[in-house]
Amino acid sequence: MSGLNDPILPGPGATDYERYLRTDELLALQKTPAQMAHRDELLFQTIHQSSELWMKLACFELETVVAHVHAGQLSPAIRLMRRAVAALDQVQGATMMLEQLAPWDYHGVRTQLGHGSGFDSPGFRQIHDLSPRLSLAFDALVAERGLTLRDIYRFSDEHGGLFELAERMLDWDQRLVMWRTLHLKLVERVIGGHVIGTQGTPVEVLGRRLDVRYFQPLWDIRNVLTTEAGTSPR
Ligand code: HEM
Repeated sequence: MSGLNDPILPGPGATDYERYLRTDELLALQKTPAQMAHRDELLFQTIHQSSELWMKLACFELETVVAHVHAGQLSPAIRLMRRAVAALDQVQGATMMLEQLAPWDYHGVRTQLGHGSGFDSPGFRQIHDLSPRLSLAFDALVAERGLTLRDIYRFSDEHGGLFELAERMLDWDQRLVMWRTLHLKLVERVIGGHVIGTQGTPVEVLGRRLDVRYFQPLWDIRNVLTTEAGTSPR
């Protein structure tokens, strides 16, 4: 008779935990100490690999959000949008952890990076491709319902679903702007603000790309409301 501790799932691994999560393969994705040029490579690889996983999850959820918005299904869209934003928060946490990498130690790691650059991050590329699709789907839904952003923001109780989704989309945009700022400060403290990156990009260029916004109208509507409220001195 097999006990509850015996594995029943197929695949490699001594237990069902290891088989389901594929921990053998996962934990073999980082260099062994013998392969490392610098011991902080494990920190560097862990942070980047886990960030790619969180971005994969964020984009998986966002893809479904787009489908829900196309179908006019606001509740599931809002639920998954919240989860996608929470996944970005994990990337932010991981990025902050690299502040523990001392500048000189980074140069030991950097010898191993070749021309590797965050520009080629699959997660960030997908974020860049998917976000405009969500923007288009949201605009189409608002138009289909005969509304404007002003209607949604002035009468948010009447348009609760659209208002909530718009606010969660704003969270997404804001998280990404904040991540770029956090990343730039990390880069400045590790390699400096006036040097060239692994793919030949001056760090100053990152500074010029801080304020990329995918849902600009959601930011602009605030100006409209403030003007309309008449509370802002001219
Ligand atoms: C020691 C820490 C880090 C340094 C020194 C660093 C450095 C750089 C530099 C110099 C660039 C400009 C492109 C180039 O020439 O490489 C860049 C871009 C980028 N890095 Fe990092 N990075 C660090 C950590 C991270 C982390 C932890 C992530 C992700 C979690 C990340 C993701 C990115 C992304 C997505 C870009 C492209 C940004 C954009 O398109 O605006 N980097 N990084």
